[in-house]
Amino acid sequence: MRVGMLTGGGDAPGLNAVIKAVVRRGVREYGIDFVGFRDGWRGPLEGVTCRLDILATRGILPRGGTILGSSRTNPLKIEGGVDRIRENLDELGIGAIIAVGGEDTLGVAAALHEQGVGVVGVPKTIDNDLGATDYTFGFDTAVQIATDAIDRLHTTAESHHRVLVLEVMGRHAGWIALYSGIAGGANIILIPEEPFDLDEVTRWIHMRMVRGYAPIVVVAEGALPAGGDLVRGNAQTDAFGHVRLAGIGEWLAREIEERTEFEARTTVLGYVQRGGTPTARDRVLATRFGLRAIQAVHDGEWGQMVALRGTDIVMVPLREAVASLKTVPPERYAEVKKFFG
Ligand code: F6P
Repeated sequence: MRVGMLTGGGDAPGLNAVIKAVVRRGVREYGIDFVGFRDGWRGPLEGVTCRLDILATRGILPRGGTILGSSRTNPLKIEGGVDRIRENLDELGIGAIIAVGGEDTLGVAAALHEQGVGVVGVPKTIDNDLGATDYTFGFDTAVQIATDAIDRLHTTAESHHRVLVLEVMGRHAGWIALYSGIAGGANIILIPEEPFDLDEVTRWIHMRMVRGYAPIVVVAEGALPAGGDLVRGNAQTDAFGHVRLAGIGEWLAREIEERTEFEARTTVLGYVQRGGTPTARDRVLATRFGLRAIQAVHDGEWGQMVALRGTDIVMVPLREAVASLKTVPPERYAEVKKFFG
């Protein structure tokens, strides 16, 4: 059997560990022949492939990024896109695809499955916002990187008696902000799920300063002031219609300076959160996902995605997986909000 594999959307530490596990098990246990598709759905759409055998996956387990490359190409938005994918798969003699990605990449996978293409999905996003799985690989690494940044910000904030704002990723869900904020002892955590009140933020900052401590504010890129709008980096949207976000951290620091007598500065963590080596936990999760995904291909479990439930790897329908985003529940936010200020 010939199987194609692709990685789509924003990269996440652990992608290479998935690829390695899929190929190792696929070749050794099932005798599968693999074809790598370059740059997400662009690969099958344009027939751009690369070698994907045991040799090609040697030494990649701890490496960040993806040896297959990634993109946000959306074949559903391209005239005749699905037909072109089918033709290319036929031409290459490929009977199934393993698609590793977030809601967008997996949404395309679900649509292709409904049109008769054999697809198995693997969830991936540093934002940890996919509804059908408890965790996605990449999240643990991103949280660790953000936590390390907060640890460092504390000492410089205290030396200069400044408010330091850390902007982290998280378009619709504040998991990275919440986890790193808790782990790093941030004084205020602002997430997309709970529009914030600037007066309240200002009060918390005062409370902290009068006690002689410099506050650290962690803000998710998708957080927004009550009654306000998302802060957009520029007007551009990607092929899946997402606006590029940037600027909430800067905006917040300016507002804090205007509303208080304190200096405020911003650090935007950006792509540092996604790059580099995965944590051990992410490597293990990614490996387990890969091992189960190739078994699913062997067993013909089409239209399904691997997922983590508790400590078990299970299969869930792709459609269910992309149906809802997993956002921070109000009660989870409420329990940390008690410590703000
Ligand atoms: O991987 C998800 C994510 O990290 C979002 O939090 C963020 O908005 C987006 O990727 C940005 O990625 P890119 O600039 O590659 O589209």
